[in-house]
Amino acid sequence: MRLNNIPNLEGFGVFIDDLDFNDLSRDKWMSLGRLQMEKLVMVIRNTGLNVNHFHHVMKMWGRCRQNYAAGDVEPEVKKEYARIGGHEKTGHIVRVAEENGLFGSGELLWHSNESGDIAFTPAVALLGDHGMVGSATGFMVTAPYYNSLSESFRSELDEMVLIHNFQEGMINRNDENNVVYKNMCPDPDTEIPLVIKSPVGIKGLHYPYNTAMCVKGMSQSESVRFLNDLKWGLANYTYDYWWENDDDLVIFDNSIVQHRRLGNTKGRLCYRYQFDYTYLQYKVTKRPYMPYLQEPYMSRYRERVKNISKTFPVFGYQPS
Ligand SMILES: [Fe+2]
Repeated sequence: MRLNNIPNLEGFGVFIDDLDFNDLSRDKWMSLGRLQMEKLVMVIRNTGLNVNHFHHVMKMWGRCRQNYAAGDVEPEVKKEYARIGGHEKTGHIVRVAEENGLFGSGELLWHSNESGDIAFTPAVALLGDHGMVGSATGFMVTAPYYNSLSESFRSELDEMVLIHNFQEGMINRNDENNVVYKNMCPDPDTEIPLVIKSPVGIKGLHYPYNTAMCVKGMSQSESVRFLNDLKWGLANYTYDYWWENDDDLVIFDNSIVQHRRLGNTKGRLCYRYQFDYTYLQYKVTKRPYMPYLQEPYMSRYRERVKNISKTFPVFGYQPS
């Protein structure tokens, strides 16, 4: 097995080649899970995996979760979820494709999933199936930008809270699926701290461009100027992975990393497993995941996760 750093991500991001999934011990796979948590982005090339084997290995790291399918969901949401393949039987793996899949066609702008939900699911895995070559999945890692700032500016950022709202056309210009996209931010004007911790405790920015609209306590024009400055800084820490093989697997953090899609989507199919690090979280940090450093966000997070846990059990949060 060979490990190499992904360019531009300042030590975050790792390529893995020559990993034989047919001869992989549980221990080795779990240590790769820890590595993915620390590196935030992992690209495993030429996996030889099919969707069943993919499910088998991913569920060793953690349980699948989609917040919008939790609790009492509206019939139209249920229907849409079934259309894209989400079901208990499939382990809630969904198709990402033009036909009967999530996110339709064309490019997807920088975003994170469930970005305006205070209890966003922290990780995503995508396994290519076919038609992947000619498209890219891009990553923007915020931790090195945060680390590059002066201590005084960092402590200013630590106090800031962003206000999130669903806005049309902020992810996919072609083909906005409102049923799913509205669930990127289920409650209007959701407040989420700008600086949070990843599941393994890396500090970075939760600044998803798709739902973060302004800074709490700043005027609209001040907000725009301030957030544009952040965008300039963050633009240095991105990498677009142009898929080299149909069976590549990309696994990325969804707390302090944004992602996007470029290139051709005709005839493209990949499978998405969005997940909690259920079985790694305890091993690595010895405590349940808490992204926030301040109240009332810690309490709000706990309350929401306990609710979600009724449908998708989250490690350390008993359903209330
Ligand atoms: Fe996404």
